[in-house]
Amino acid sequence: MTIQNSSAKTAVVFFSGKGHTREIAQRLAGEFGVEAEEIEPAEHYSDADLNYTVDDCRANRESFDPQARPALAADIPNVSGYDIVFLGYPIWWGDAAAPLRTFVESVNWAGKTVVPFCTSGGSSITRSVSTLSSLAGAGEWHRGIWIRAHASGEAIAAELKRAGL
Ligand SMILES: Cc1cc2nc3c(=O)[nH]c(=O)nc-3n(C[C@H](O)[C@H](O)[C@H](O)COP(=O)(O)O)c2cc1C
Repeated sequence: MTIQNSSAKTAVVFFSGKGHTREIAQRLAGEFGVEAEEIEPAEHYSDADLNYTVDDCRANRESFDPQARPALAADIPNVSGYDIVFLGYPIWWGDAAAPLRTFVESVNWAGKTVVPFCTSGGSSITRSVSTLSSLAGAGEWHRGIWIRAHASGEAIAAELKRAGL
C-alpha cells in the first residue's frame, strides 16, 4: 500500500487523554497535508479519571469492562468520504482506550483501509488492532504502527516507510 502520491482520500482521526497521541496525530496529518480530527468523549477525562494507579479510576473501570462504551461528543469525525483512515489512540491496559470501542462501532468501515496507530508507555499495538478490527467487523485493517511519544515529523515518516505505507 502506498499512500503518499496516491489519489486515495486520507483522514487522520484520534482520541487522546493527555495529549501525547494528539501531538503525534497532528504531525502525522501534516505528512499527508490534512488536519487531524479529534474523537472527543461526551465527558472529558480528568487527571483523576486517568490515574491508573487508583484501581477504581474511570479509565480502569472502562478498560476492565468489555461492555463499556463511553459516550462520544455529538460531532465526532465523519470518515464516510475517506478511503484510508489513520486511527490513533493511547494504549490502556494493553488494549485500545475505551472510547475507541464506541467510535469503531459507530462507523461503517466497509471498503476502507484502516491504519491504527498508538502511543503507549511501551506496550505494543497488536492486541488493540485485533480488538478494534473485530468490533468493526469490516474494512481492511493494517497491523498498526506504534509511534514514540513526541516523535518528530521525520521519525513518523520513517515509521510509515517501515510499515510499508
Ligand atoms: C488507564 C491507562 C492505562 C494505561 N495502560 C498502559 C499499558 O498497558 N501499557 C503502556 O505501555 N502504557 C499504558 N498507559 C500509558 C499510555 O498509553 C501513554 O501514556 C500514552 O502515550 C497516553 O496517550 P495520551 O496522552 O494521548 O492520552 C496507560 C495509560 C492510562 C491512562
